[in-house]
Amino acid sequence: MKFALVKNNKELGERAFFEIKQVLDAKPDAVIGFATGSTPLPLYAKMVDDYKKNGTSYKAVRAVNLDEYVGLDAKDKNSYARFMRENLFDHIDILPENTDIPNGMAQDLEAECARYSEMLSVTPRDIQILGIGANGHIGFNEPYTKKDSTTHIVSLTARTRADNAAGFKNPAAVPIYALTMGISEILAAKKIILLATGEKKAQAIYDMLRAREDLSCPATALRGHPDVTVILDKEAASLLKFDEWTPAE
Ligand code: F6R
Repeated sequence: MKFALVKNNKELGERAFFEIKQVLDAKPDAVIGFATGSTPLPLYAKMVDDYKKNGTSYKAVRAVNLDEYVGLDAKDKNSYARFMRENLFDHIDILPENTDIPNGMAQDLEAECARYSEMLSVTPRDIQILGIGANGHIGFNEPYTKKDSTTHIVSLTARTRADNAAGFKNPAAVPIYALTMGISEILAAKKIILLATGEKKAQAIYDMLRAREDLSCPATALRGHPDVTVILDKEAASLLKFDEWTPAE
């Protein structure tokens, strides 16, 4: 695992974009795995800005997302489908038909998980963007999710629902269930960048590196991946010691 320490959100966006751009330069039809949440917003802002200024094209790119709430349709202001359109897809030249996200409104959620897993198995990701939950979740793989999990229905923890309550009428309005890409599918990406900011993430980052690999911190699964770059600020890195670091180029 490599680490890149950044000073602020702007630098986080630029550093993460550097990784995306390298992949795109080598392969304009790359498959990118996207995350939602507040942490990757500076990256998406940078991608939009770069698209406007430099015209980096996403016409041949395929996008797959990590997760979606059950019961929110793609138009709902809290759905991750809408989040991606509003924060990125509507502002670059990616083709809507080249984007995919689990459908939290599917009649048969198990069948939707099977569809998504099947799609992922034939759509290997060149790069996967991740955030991390305060409890160490990646995607919505909450503590004790198995490492060999594929796309599945998850019951969100009280902590995750509380952390994600902004934007909802009240914490009780946050959906109880979500569909998420499984840990084995996250690990199948060739390259992973994990973004983390703020003191709230410091324990999860520490556990990702140091906790026993017993699934209580799902992010420990990333230790076995050959190409992970963690891009984080001083606050998120505050529980790490410098000798634990391999700086990213
Ligand atoms: C979102 C996702 C989650 C978030 C995590 C951190 O698609 O998969 O794992 O990355 O909950 O969220 P923020 O960035 O809002 O702190």
